[in-house]
Amino acid sequence: MLTEPFKRLDHETELRKRLLPYCRLKYGEIWVDSLSGHRVGVLDAAKAEDVQSVFETEKSVLSIQDPPYNVAVGAENTDALFQWDLPQYMEWSKQWIENNLRVLSDDASMYVWLGADQRDHFQPLPDFMMMMRNYPEMVSRSFITMRNQRGYGTQKNWMAVRQECLYYTKGKPIFDVQAEYTDIPKILRGYYKEVNGQRTENVERGKSENIRAGNVWVDVQQVFYRMQENLAGCYAQKPLLAIERIVRASSRKGDLIADFFAHSGTTLLAGEMHQRKVYTFDIDPVFAELAIRRLEHFRKTGKTGFQVANPFPEVAAEVADLATEYRLETKRDVKEAAPIAAMLF
Ligand SMILES: C[S@@+](CC[C@H](N)C(=O)[O-])C[C@H]1O[C@@H](n2cnc3c(N)ncnc32)[C@H](O)[C@@H]1O
Repeated sequence: MLTEPFKRLDHETELRKRLLPYCRLKYGEIWVDSLSGHRVGVLDAAKAEDVQSVFETEKSVLSIQDPPYNVAVGAENTDALFQWDLPQYMEWSKQWIENNLRVLSDDASMYVWLGADQRDHFQPLPDFMMMMRNYPEMVSRSFITMRNQRGYGTQKNWMAVRQECLYYTKGKPIFDVQAEYTDIPKILRGYYKEVNGQRTENVERGKSENIRAGNVWVDVQQVFYRMQENLAGCYAQKPLLAIERIVRASSRKGDLIADFFAHSGTTLLAGEMHQRKVYTFDIDPVFAELAIRRLEHFRKTGKTGFQVANPFPEVAAEVADLATEYRLETKRDVKEAAPIAAMLF
């Protein structure tokens, strides 16, 4: 039986305390990668001076942001995934968005992942969309929905299997349509047309045999413990495929990408895989450390995550007991259940 060495790090207060001495960065510090020039910090997205300290005078052509959604994940309110009053959350969103806009180049793309609480008037998604109207330089381009393939839910309600992503552009950034193609073959035929006297249908005329992702992504698996890219303790990890798609579509090799909410370091890894430079940070030193370790592990082994291995081998003996406890718990997989319980409609 596969068992993760530890559960959601936002719940494991005692474990977090034991991991902190092994985190190379403290609040305010930045790690500079000597190989690809990435930067990882322990910083606060809402503080202008923190953002400035990592970007200095540089600007990014792509920003991928995945803030806490103001929806209690796993029906629990923690420091890391908090649920505030909506006005307080919106004030906080305004601060980090303005910090983000300050580090965007003239031609740039911005993707923001957000949730909507169906038990609370779908906040904060519509409020965030309205707020973005205050920044006329940002043009709304697409409203992407990603299906969480492993979702399961209550039998009395619709299953919660969606993740929302807002896509905005500023100026005239690139968009590489090649990044849009999925592995799903085209199955719909039709649209007959005469070409050189021959009746042809759309699949024959198309440039690819596969469908494009469009703005409903159905080909991305939700991260869980059986996947190589999994990181134990990370409760909000975005699938690598989704972030790679964004990186490939909206940046070129050598470009600088910004991510203010690093967590498991998915953007950092996608940037490394596609020869982009990533400046990222998290307010929590444990996640900044995990992001760096994930990058180092990838360089050493070619693996995209730790799956069920312990990313902190220094505390392996101490957490062995925890893993045994988890094995004895119910069969329910915490990581699978969490996003559903969050009631992201
Ligand atoms: C939804 S997760 C990001 C997931 C990430 N995209 C991934 O794929 O792993 C949100 C992260 O934001 C961090 N965070 C919360 N408040 C923050 C703040 N003010 N500044 C920077 N990071 C913050 C949390 O610690 C958490 O790790």
